[in-house]
Amino acid sequence: MNKIDVIIVGSGIAALQLAYKLSNHKHVMIITKGQVKDSNSFMAQGGIAAAIAKTDSPQQHFHDTMTAGEGHGNEYRVNDLVEEGKKVIEELIDAGAPFDLEADGSLSLGVEGAHRVPRILHSGGDQTGKKLVNFLLESLQASDHITWMENVMVMDLILNRDGKCIGIKAKNSNEELLEFYAPHVVLASGGAGGLFTQSSNHPTILGDGIALAYRAGASVGDLEFLQFHPTLLSANGKTVGLISEAVRGAGAILVNDRGERIMEGIHDQQDLGPRHVVAHEIFKQVTSGKYVFLDITTIHNFKKRFPSISQLCKAHHVDLSKGKIPVLPGSHFMMGGVVTDRWGCTSIKGLYAIGEVACSGVHGANRLASNSLLEGFVYGSRLSMFLLKTKVEEYPKDFVPAPDNKNPLETLPFTRKELQEKLTHYVGIIRNNDSLQHHFAWLNSFSIDPFANIDQCRRADIQTYFMWINSVLMTQSALIRTESRGGHIRSDFPNKDYKRWLRKSIIHYRKK
Ligand code: SIN
Repeated sequence: MNKIDVIIVGSGIAALQLAYKLSNHKHVMIITKGQVKDSNSFMAQGGIAAAIAKTDSPQQHFHDTMTAGEGHGNEYRVNDLVEEGKKVIEELIDAGAPFDLEADGSLSLGVEGAHRVPRILHSGGDQTGKKLVNFLLESLQASDHITWMENVMVMDLILNRDGKCIGIKAKNSNEELLEFYAPHVVLASGGAGGLFTQSSNHPTILGDGIALAYRAGASVGDLEFLQFHPTLLSANGKTVGLISEAVRGAGAILVNDRGERIMEGIHDQQDLGPRHVVAHEIFKQVTSGKYVFLDITTIHNFKKRFPSISQLCKAHHVDLSKGKIPVLPGSHFMMGGVVTDRWGCTSIKGLYAIGEVACSGVHGANRLASNSLLEGFVYGSRLSMFLLKTKVEEYPKDFVPAPDNKNPLETLPFTRKELQEKLTHYVGIIRNNDSLQHHFAWLNSFSIDPFANIDQCRRADIQTYFMWINSVLMTQSALIRTESRGGHIRSDFPNKDYKRWLRKSIIHYRKK
């Protein structure tokens, strides 16, 4: 194997964009615990937001992003996102990315919640993520600078005696312990939506990057800000996939089983209001015993416009000719994560985070629809610029060996399912002090060390352990933030705390 310059953990848009930008200059290893296409990026339906239209501008995109983020976004980072987002999209168009066009050859731009103008580029109707991932994979195919590692789970970051990240420990599917070294290690492993029972996320997305960074001592923050998507397809009381906001952008409206429009009088943008507002309203309807549907009767050519959603509905016996799709809200996107600067650098030298795993400040308390693929492209690109101009120093390779250890996770006192069910119940769309304290006490009632040596543990146990670490951090964050803002809604603190907002608080954790 070639000497590796950059290890990238994860294989979504941020990872692939970074690899693409580095592929002529550096040897890159892309490592994922599943298959390369197992990512939220691949599943993204709606599209990618960018101020491309003549009637639009980065300033308007900035305004909508900041407004959706409810005063918690970082203005400088949002400015980078919208300004460079436009450029990155123009680059993609020039490189031949397959965006959908109108009959006259102009770009087809959709509308989604909280965007005041049409600015959502899409591909294959509702297959934007799949088309863009495939586009990048094809562009990378010819490169002999990329080493692909599938079915290998990263379980620890290796730090040298100076505290610099110099590599990773991983387990392959035979439970063999592997070590890989590189001067740069990038977390691009996605968020943590799969920690909840009802989620739009790929089932492998379980907060691994956050657990890895936390265990290494990096700062993580804003973990209380979790976006719930209003419209997941509901089948037999369970959620079984996403119904893109683009469907509401095309004219669908939310109604309950009495035929009442549920968003009327709730927000001036009604069905296209910010996600947490719409998700909260559906949650209230459902908890009061009503059913909620997307009424799609005004959308012409639904099957042609939304081929994968139509397929999903068919697979779950939802008859689209009746004009109604049953929906429930579910976890969708983590606004917080591993705290980074404007290039993707974390608080640990040699360790970087890009895409959903990062707390980059671009989403504030609530992400604007279709800004996530954009973040992946922009930060993949920004980090490549940083790495290409960073001189690789000789760094001490010696690290403190982990003490001999048995298997501290052999008898974990909970299952993954139990963790998911309890987090959904106590730290779900609506939280309060009682629910959070109750859950925090339960999580801490076990004598588990979040910094244990897990070299001898099995992958499945490590996964559950990482979920427990994420649950603890998320619950603690939600307890600390005594206000409601964006994706964090507390029934006991229903308003924003403007003093806190002025301080733009980010919660940091550090290994003791
Ligand atoms: C959607 O298509 O509704 C999801 C896209 C996004 O989360 O930005």
